[in-house]
Amino acid sequence: MRYDVAAVRAQFPALTTGTAHFDGPGGSQTPTVVAEAVARTLTSSIANRGSVTAAERLAEQTVAEARSAMADLLGTDPSTVIFGRSMTANTMDLARTLARCHLWGPDDEVVVTSLDHDGNVRPWLLAAESVGATVRWAEVDPATGELPVAALQEVLSERTRLVALPGASNLIGTRPDLPGMVAAAHDVGALVHVDAVHLAAHAPVSREELGADLLSCSPYKFFGPHLGVTCGTPDLLEGLRPDKLLPSSDAVPERFELGTLPYELLAGTTAAVDFLASLAGTGQTSSRRTRLEAAFAAVEAHEDALRVRAEDGLSAIDGVTLWSRALHRTPTLLFTLEGVEPSAVHRHLAARGVNAPASHFYAWELSHRLGLGAAGGVRVGMAPYSTTEEVDRLLEGVAELAARR
Ligand SMILES: Cc1ncc(COP(=O)(O)O)c(C=O)c1O
Repeated sequence: MRYDVAAVRAQFPALTTGTAHFDGPGGSQTPTVVAEAVARTLTSSIANRGSVTAAERLAEQTVAEARSAMADLLGTDPSTVIFGRSMTANTMDLARTLARCHLWGPDDEVVVTSLDHDGNVRPWLLAAESVGATVRWAEVDPATGELPVAALQEVLSERTRLVALPGASNLIGTRPDLPGMVAAAHDVGALVHVDAVHLAAHAPVSREELGADLLSCSPYKFFGPHLGVTCGTPDLLEGLRPDKLLPSSDAVPERFELGTLPYELLAGTTAAVDFLASLAGTGQTSSRRTRLEAAFAAVEAHEDALRVRAEDGLSAIDGVTLWSRALHRTPTLLFTLEGVEPSAVHRHLAARGVNAPASHFYAWELSHRLGLGAAGGVRVGMAPYSTTEEVDRLLEGVAELAARR
């Protein structure tokens, strides 16, 4: 089946400006259906969750639908889907809760990686620090951008309580061997938290198939509103006692959700998952999970072709270094141009209607391991709405700047 990028683009009002949005890894553009779902819910007759009035039932239904949509996207049970303000906020809360409830102490170890966004590093470091536990680092190979399973195995021991893993790098796109890493962590009896924020926008994820104990993502990376979602195994969640208010529900997952849920954003999240599921144009006959898998296959083929075009074009430009080198990776590239600050490349491209920002993008350790420091590089992220014309515009812009040096 042909992937119809024009039909996809027609659903994004933001794209009518003509700007090429390669800034999707920071947050995607939003289709009309998502914005409409948010507005409709916000202006509906709606109340706090309950079963007496239609307004209460609408809130209840909105929450149930969003849990079910995210469960289909993440391959987990709806009862294990926790909504929060952001992945970072969810992980901060979770790390504190795990350290306290699982009685981490000075004899325990926590493993983080230098491939991760700081949102999957600092919360675990802070939690470990608060109880005197030791932190060990699984190191990325800066030459290849790979994080081999062996790098994790080197720092695992029977003292490891938790391993925080990246689903994919938001800076250079590396997709490590997650099943191999989860298995290695489980071999020593450790729990695993997967940061799927970057991965979930580009590939199907299944927490259950992966065997991950905990997994997080952020709907605003895949056409949804600004929220964070964390899911986990039912038994693990049941055994945790997060900080909460006394009268609020002690049921899982509500126990983990502080205050009133943003119903309008949850409705937008459901709409975003349904929009994603529609991208392969397979109709409504199969399950949403099946449609999501078909959609990701179509999107991956489209985005990968663009990635190859961008990589081929960039590597032909004198002075460009490409930092995205892993064998298996998302369509997210990082490059630098010799003698030009990444921020100057960003500004030059912006003036040509090409949005490709420059930063470390909070992959703080990785940017430093690569020798790029706080300046980082220029990130080019393909999205389902990206086109070959946009890639060519990007390449022309970089070539023009390179020639001017
Ligand atoms: C890989 C990755 N992890 C975590 C985060 C943080 O997500 P949030 O903004 O929902 O806290 C981001 C955001 O860019 C990310 O790309």
